[in-house]
Order: sequence, then C-alpha cells, then structure tokens
Amino acid sequence: MEAPGLPSSVHSMDIDLGARSYTIHVGNGIVNSTGHLIRERLPEVRTSAVVTSDGIPEAHVEALRGSLESAGLNIGIVKVPDGEEAKSWEVAGDLVGELLDIGLDRRSAVIAFGGGAIGDLAGFVAAIYMRGMSLVQVPTTLLAQVDSSYGGKTAVNHPKGKNLIGAFYQPSLVVSDQGILGTLPRRELLSGLGEVVKHGVIADPELFRLTEAEGERLMDADPDALSEVVIRSVAIKGRLVEEDERDETGVRAILNYGHTVGHALETMSDHELRHGEGVALGMEVAARISLSLGLMTKQDAERQTKTLESIGFDLNPPEADLMTLMEVTHRDKKAVGDTINFVLPTGIGKSPIVKGIQDDLILDTLKGMGYG
Ligand SMILES: NC(=O)c1ccc[n+]([C@@H]2O[C@H](COP(=O)([O-])OP(=O)(O)OC[C@H]3O[C@@H](n4cnc5c(N)ncnc54)[C@H](O)[C@@H]3O)[C@@H](O)[C@H]2O)c1
Ligand SMILES: [Zn+2]
Repeated sequence: MEAPGLPSSVHSMDIDLGARSYTIHVGNGIVNSTGHLIRERLPEVRTSAVVTSDGIPEAHVEALRGSLESAGLNIGIVKVPDGEEAKSWEVAGDLVGELLDIGLDRRSAVIAFGGGAIGDLAGFVAAIYMRGMSLVQVPTTLLAQVDSSYGGKTAVNHPKGKNLIGAFYQPSLVVSDQGILGTLPRRELLSGLGEVVKHGVIADPELFRLTEAEGERLMDADPDALSEVVIRSVAIKGRLVEEDERDETGVRAILNYGHTVGHALETMSDHELRHGEGVALGMEVAARISLSLGLMTKQDAERQTKTLESIGFDLNPPEADLMTLMEVTHRDKKAVGDTINFVLPTGIGKSPIVKGIQDDLILDTLKGMGYG
C-alpha cells in the first residue's frame, strides 16, 4: 500500500485498533511528506504545533517546517528541554500554556518531533489538552522509530519514579524517516539497536540475522539497512499491540525481554546508561537464566552475545552493588516474595516464556557473570 506523493521506497503499515487505528509510514526522506500525510489523514486540521528541542538538528526542523507549510498548515514550533528533562509535570504544564498561546483547539494536532522523551511528553499532553487532540509522531531516534513512537504509551516522570504520570493515547499517524538518523550520536543509535536485537530474539530470526550480519551498516546509519530493521520491528511490536493494546493480557509482556535487570541497571546508573544499553545487559542475564534452566541452547545464547558485542555493546557488568541491584529490580517490577518475573528466551526468533525466578538463581547467575 502506498499513499500518493510519497517517495517510492516508502513502506506503510497499519496498526489495527478499531476506531483508534493508524498507519506508520517508514522510509528514507519521508519527513518531507509529513504535511501531505497530515492533510490526507486529518483533513480537519488547520493548525498544529511541533514539539521539539534544541537537541534536534535545525536542518531537520526546517525540513519538517517546509513540508507542513507547503501543505498549507499553520504551525507553531515549541522547544522543550532536551532528553529526559522534558518528561516532567512542570514541563507538561508549561507546554499546555504554550499550545494555548498558539491557539490550538480540539481540531488541531500536536506533532512530536524528537526521540522517545519528546514523544512521551507530547503524547501525554495531546491526551490531556482539552480532553484530547490529534497526535502525530515524527520520531527522530532509532529507539523512538522501533519502539516508543507507536503503541500508545505516553507519560511523564514523577520524583518518585519514571513514567508514573501517564495515559494510553494512540497517535493518528506516524512518519518514520531513517534519513534523519544520520545525525544521531553513536550511542543513541546503539541504544535503538538494543531494542532491535530484542525484537529479533523474541520473534524474528531473519531480523536477528540482519543485526548479526549487517551491524556495521546499521551503525553507519545506512538508511536502507535501518529502514529494514524498523519495518521488521514495527511488524512485531505492532502485532502485539493489536492483540493487547493496554498491556493487560500478558501478550505485550514479552516486549519486556531484557528489561527486568536492564531497567534496574539504567536506574542505578542515574540514566548514564542509555536505555538500549541496559536492555542489552539485561538480555544477557535473562539468556543465562534460560541456559541454566535448559530453555535455550548454548549455541543460541552465544549467538546473542556475539551479535551484541559485534554491534558495539559493552557487555562487561557495570559497577553496581549486587544487593542494591536485587533491591531495585524487586521494587521496579513491584515483585512480591522472593521471585521476580523474567521474560526467558527459548532460542533465536522463538517465542519466549514469562516465568517467576527465585532470587537465589538470579543472584547465582549475576555472580557467575561477574556482577558484584
Ligand atoms: N512510550 C513508549 O512506549 C516508550 C518505549 C521505550 C522508551 N520510551 C521512553 O523513551 C525515552 C528515551 O528515548 P530516546 O532513547 O529516543 O532518547 P531521547 O528522546 O532522550 O533522545 C536522545 C538524544 O538524542 C537527541 N536526538 C534525537 N534525535 C536526533 C537526531 N536525529 N540527530 C541528533 N540528535 C538527536 C536528543 O536531542 C537527545 O539528546 C525514555 O524516556 C523512555 O522512557 C518510551
Ligand atoms: Zn525498552
């Protein structure tokens, strides 16, 4: 399926959620079609606000502005603090004020133009602004393109924890341009690839093979290689979102592969560790547990390790006190008793299982890997 006026290499994928369905358009250069796509999907919209930050190179912002203006849209551009700083209650309140000043009403659209942080903030504000207005996601990091820009989870942080103030709110349209990823710092690209390898291990052997064989092209930000892994990632997560939109039935839970220990390590590093770097470390721990339970072959576990290392992940255990790590993991997963739920791989590209694991086994595994 191809919309008129799009570059020829665009791939369009539908997320089927009844009245909340939308299309994700993936391709190199497609940011220049954003205005056209908004007019087609949201014909009632005349005014929109682009939410972005100084971290997004000005040339990208100008390309988006050009596309919106040539489609006849009135736009305002609002800059919010860069990175995780954007995800606060205070910034959300300030943003509502700026959108009111621009004159947005319920027939307007907010366009999130940034990584996962801006997407989560702008999505949350779109959900609450006058009880909800249209949201368009134009993700500019690989992590946001493969994960955070669709699926409907939006949130800001509270001093007591991450993502504690939020809403499920689906975008009306996602425009995912891999050309924009050429300016991403290396560590941000790597972070996104952590989620890509995750998708390969839990659901798609061919995607895994791509990360295994094409690591160099991916880390060189080759737009064609990146489009391929974005398309395959969206196919996997999109299907799980369709089956379990609000993360209630357990279907969507396998996306948490690598996140149990990974998220705790990320928190303990005070977010010095990028999200996907934590996920990569967490996948290694989960695979080791699978191995000791006989759920996964040594060969598959080694393939995962080699692939992560060859892409550029540092898999050495970070400095982290073992007991604190256990504590943070328990708190993070709201675990009760002396087990913690893990997503355990059963092979490369095979459905994982979710299982409560005893603290003793987790501790032994971590010690065996050199933690503590
Ligand atoms: N809603 C979800 O389903 C979901 C899923 C996963 C992660 N998240 C959230 O996503 C956030 C992390 O997102 P992220 O990894 O994209 O980080 P980020 O949004 O903090 O962006 C990382 C950095 O990259 C810069 N940047 C962005 N695009 C750029 C470009 N094209 N060129 C150069 N620099 C660019 C940004 O300015 C920022 O400094 C976290 O808050 C996490 O909780 C949400
Ligand atoms: Zn993640």
